[in-house]
Amino acid sequence: MLIKRQSEVPSSEITSKDLYLNRRKFLAGAALAGAAVATGVAFNKIAAPSLVATANAKIDGIQKSSFSATEKETPYKDVTNYNNFYEFSTDKYEPAGLAKDFKTRPWTVTIDGDVKKKQVLDVDAIMKMAAPEERIYRHRCVEGWSIVVPWVGFSLSELIKRAEPLGKAKYVEFTTLYDLKQFPGQRVPVLRWPYVEGLRLDEAMHPLALLCFGLYGEVLPNQNGAPLRIVIPWKYGFKSAKSIVRIRFTGSEPLNSWQENSPREYGFYSNVNPNVDHPRWSQAKERRLGEFLKRPTLMFNGYDQVASLYSGMDLKKNF
Ligand code: MTE
Repeated sequence: MLIKRQSEVPSSEITSKDLYLNRRKFLAGAALAGAAVATGVAFNKIAAPSLVATANAKIDGIQKSSFSATEKETPYKDVTNYNNFYEFSTDKYEPAGLAKDFKTRPWTVTIDGDVKKKQVLDVDAIMKMAAPEERIYRHRCVEGWSIVVPWVGFSLSELIKRAEPLGKAKYVEFTTLYDLKQFPGQRVPVLRWPYVEGLRLDEAMHPLALLCFGLYGEVLPNQNGAPLRIVIPWKYGFKSAKSIVRIRFTGSEPLNSWQENSPREYGFYSNVNPNVDHPRWSQAKERRLGEFLKRPTLMFNGYDQVASLYSGMDLKKNF
């Protein structure tokens, strides 16, 4: 999305997706079958490398959430095959394939900065901190497309309150894994790696801010940010950092990757706001994946309950 050319999502790309996916599936299948024949290795050994074992695993004890939207969910195949994950590729159709062998275990998250309980937590321990909930959220990308996803996780505040931020902590910074062996996209300087995002502490503590490890009742697919990501439904999608390894508390506003890359285009707040255009395109409307007609974009993506976080702020200036 940072690349300076017209919006990367021409409608033709969206409407031709099914065709594209089918072709991809065919090519991937053919490649795997070819490799199996050439090497003599059993097909299932190629298709199921070690840590793919967790993929598609059901998550037990998921509770429903009153925060869920009642809109039609975007099909699983679209949510998991059309992804922005620049560490793998800037092509939205590629992360699904490139992330297949991504290792999500062992995985730890460092909690540091201005907190009482600096610690390194195992992701499996984090996932057990609170009961998993299904949160059906609208997810609006800054590029103009949107999806509705039944994420699984719990409020980020559950983790934050256990870390006990100090009084001077006003912001939270999230850092994605840096691993050139696993992330081919990090060899390309489209952003300064690793990917960094930030929230004000009160935003991060809002119950809607989700610490996420699943979707559609299953463990998060790698291309969607496994094993752990955040989902901030009232902000543009890029605030929802994937594959997080560090959560740092700080007194000063973190410089998020997109803002660093293109400060005129991407601000720190990045609240969904139909009244503030991106310098290169309007934000007034959006296209739900799979739909033809655009729909109006709602202030805060329709999550009015966060409005009080910004009362008195000029949201044109603080975009
Ligand atoms: N996190 C990392 N680490 N790298 C990325 O490229 N892309 C962001 C966000 N988080 C991104 C990221 C953008 S632009 C969007 S729209 C969402 O992830 C996409 O999430 P999804 O693929 O689960 O729909």
